[in-house]
Amino acid sequence: MEDLTPPKDSLEPIETASRDEIAALQLERLRWSLAHAYENVPHYRASFESAGVHPDDLTDLSDLAKFPFTVKQDLRANYPFGMFAVPREKVRRIHASSGTTGQPTVVGYTENDLKMWGGVVARSLRAAGLRPGDILHNAYGYGLFTGGLGIHLGADALGLSTVPISGGMTPRQVRLITDFQPRGMTVTPSYALAVLDEFKAQGIDPRASSLAVGIFGAEPWTNAMRREIEEAFDMHAVDIYGLSEVVGPGVSMECVETKDGLHIWEDHFYPEIIDPETGAVLPDGELGELVFTSLTKEAFPIIRYRTRDLTRLLPGTARSMRRMEKVTGRSDDMIILRGVNVFPTQIEEQLLAIPGLAPHFQIELTRKGRMDEMIVHVEGPSDAASQLGAQIKQSVGITVKVRAHDEGGVARSQGKAVRIVDNRPKD
Ligand code: DLL
Repeated sequence: MEDLTPPKDSLEPIETASRDEIAALQLERLRWSLAHAYENVPHYRASFESAGVHPDDLTDLSDLAKFPFTVKQDLRANYPFGMFAVPREKVRRIHASSGTTGQPTVVGYTENDLKMWGGVVARSLRAAGLRPGDILHNAYGYGLFTGGLGIHLGADALGLSTVPISGGMTPRQVRLITDFQPRGMTVTPSYALAVLDEFKAQGIDPRASSLAVGIFGAEPWTNAMRREIEEAFDMHAVDIYGLSEVVGPGVSMECVETKDGLHIWEDHFYPEIIDPETGAVLPDGELGELVFTSLTKEAFPIIRYRTRDLTRLLPGTARSMRRMEKVTGRSDDMIILRGVNVFPTQIEEQLLAIPGLAPHFQIELTRKGRMDEMIVHVEGPSDAASQLGAQIKQSVGITVKVRAHDEGGVARSQGKAVRIVDNRPKD
């Protein structure tokens, strides 16, 4: 694979600033952000007051722990525009979650917010090894989802030639990669696998494609999947993270030269790790729930937002800003099967270790009598499926059924994969 390390002089000064410089900037911005939220969003004024805190109480970064958390329910309760901190006419863009599992959550951006977002995505695409003038095949969905349009903003800011193909119509994805010769592809890892199958179906060798790097995010994926994809396409695979409530893609990014977790763009997003049970702030290095506070956002400031994503904070390597470990799961996706906690990524890891099985999978939960059962649907021969069952028992410690399907028997993703289908009776 090609060395894509960005030249040192292409980095922004803040990417290599000292920790002291970063902390000083964060403190100044945090004070502004807390005051901005308090003065302009009734929800924050009320929640700060009921916790007995005022923005002036923050004199050190650690004082942030005194402020109340924000959760998804707060955004729902203020649907649609109640969390906006600027007059509605100043909002240049509105995105929203799909709302399939309840009321959608709505976020907004001012002109400056869009500039900031484009800036952090440009920084992320550069960290992935892309350079001005490179062609980018952007297969994240365009629309209310922040993936497509968020990457697009950053690609414009970096000066890429963007192909805004969005997700879906898989044969056309392969055709345009072959004809336009992009250097980079932005896509969910699960949809990349569908594109990979299509390459094979058309008899085209994916390793011979022009792609030098794939930028994968919007859902959890493992280092085993990284190896699978890198080998299949002969390209680098790096991780990009974000969530709409904080900004969208570009909150943190893995650097192509180290691939050792994601540098958080801490000059705009202040991270904390908390114990999900008690809410206490945990020291760097400990595993817990990731919490973010925006430092510069105008339209939709977010204070101590509980992401539900589980990870740990690590010191910077390729950049000065801290890293977060690859997110292996959301607390919402954790399955408790007969007392054992399981994340779909653990199943993915085992699956990819068994030769003969395709990398697609779906987990079905059912109930027999009073016992919950897990069925893992895979594609491949039945002996490989039973080998997977034995491997899951040994490594994860749970007994599951593995059902082997023919090729195409497991639902394909066009964006974020649906990993868990819960068919247990609701009681
Ligand atoms: O998924 C934003 C995004 C788009 C990120 C494209 C990266 C690339 P939401 O739809 O609001 O935003 O979903 C956010 O997706 O809280 C995580 O649970 C999950 N997620 C996002 N990126 C990653 C990642 C976009 N790299 C939720 N690894 C987050 C694991 C991720 N999970």
